[in-house]
Amino acid sequence: MTKRPTVIPVSRVDQLAASVLDGLRRTPKELSPVWFYDEYGSTLFDSICELPEYYLTRTELGIMQEHAAEMAQIIGPQAALIEFGSGTSLKTRLLLDHLVAPAAYVPVDIAREHLIEAANTLARDYPAVRIFPVCADFTAPFELPKQLQDAQRRVVYFPGSTLGNFSRDQARAVLQRMREIVGDTGAVLIGIDLQKDPDVLRAAYNDSAGVTAQFNLNALRHINRELGTKFDLTAFEHDAVWNEEQGRIEMHLISKRDQVVDVSGTPIRFSRGEHLRTEYCHKYTQAGFESLAASARLTSTRVWTDAEKKFSVQLLEPVRVQ
Ligand code: AVI
Repeated sequence: MTKRPTVIPVSRVDQLAASVLDGLRRTPKELSPVWFYDEYGSTLFDSICELPEYYLTRTELGIMQEHAAEMAQIIGPQAALIEFGSGTSLKTRLLLDHLVAPAAYVPVDIAREHLIEAANTLARDYPAVRIFPVCADFTAPFELPKQLQDAQRRVVYFPGSTLGNFSRDQARAVLQRMREIVGDTGAVLIGIDLQKDPDVLRAAYNDSAGVTAQFNLNALRHINRELGTKFDLTAFEHDAVWNEEQGRIEMHLISKRDQVVDVSGTPIRFSRGEHLRTEYCHKYTQAGFESLAASARLTSTRVWTDAEKKFSVQLLEPVRVQ
């Protein structure tokens, strides 16, 4: 009889430690931005959205307030609205206020409790809309509710410029997933932050009140709690760096001294002045975004912007292969 190998289960902590170590062994060192978002980090992010320098949320909301009626008209009646990373579904309300007999609203989010809470609040405020929350990571395949079959068309809504937080390859994969979901007759409505004076960008990600610095450092606090590491938060400082070549702001943590941090038994050395990258925030030119969308067989057919062209909300429609 052949002896079966023993399967040693890998715990969640081991998996998290492995992914953190993978990033910290690279040059330059990097961490996933998912580490920003524990309870405290989510509160800090809400505060960032209110900062005078952080124009993104305010500007996108203004665009939605001004143009949601037209967007809803273009989307048409009986559409199923599927929102990626729905959060509090704040901007969605503007669409729901104008959509004609929407077939359903499907908020997709990884944070189960927030998702259910937001879905319940929306269900109270929009009793005529069928709401099917889906708890899933939208960067991986997930199943949609069967009840969407009777919808006229499917429209994926992805506000907030979150696409910019992915690498180009990841962003293409997310757009491809959206393209698969909407099929040949649907559409994608997406918030895209546009390239602008780097000083405006640097200020937006390096605010004078220091909230973004706390948000960035919170990644280390979160890792300390989950993995039992002892990152000294006072030994790192935040910076937001404009990478001209890649067209993105990068969130960095800079080591203030030479130091060694033990990460699950592996010593990780930081030299004084060494940068640890924690997030990309891509800013697109219209041409650059169109070429990214085209690589996912989507084409931008409508672009709504603010007067200063800081931010855009774009309607992407499928390019059909003949
Ligand atoms: C969530 N995301 C769109 C934000 C952004 O602007 O890229 C995250 C953020 N990072 C620092 N400030 C805000």
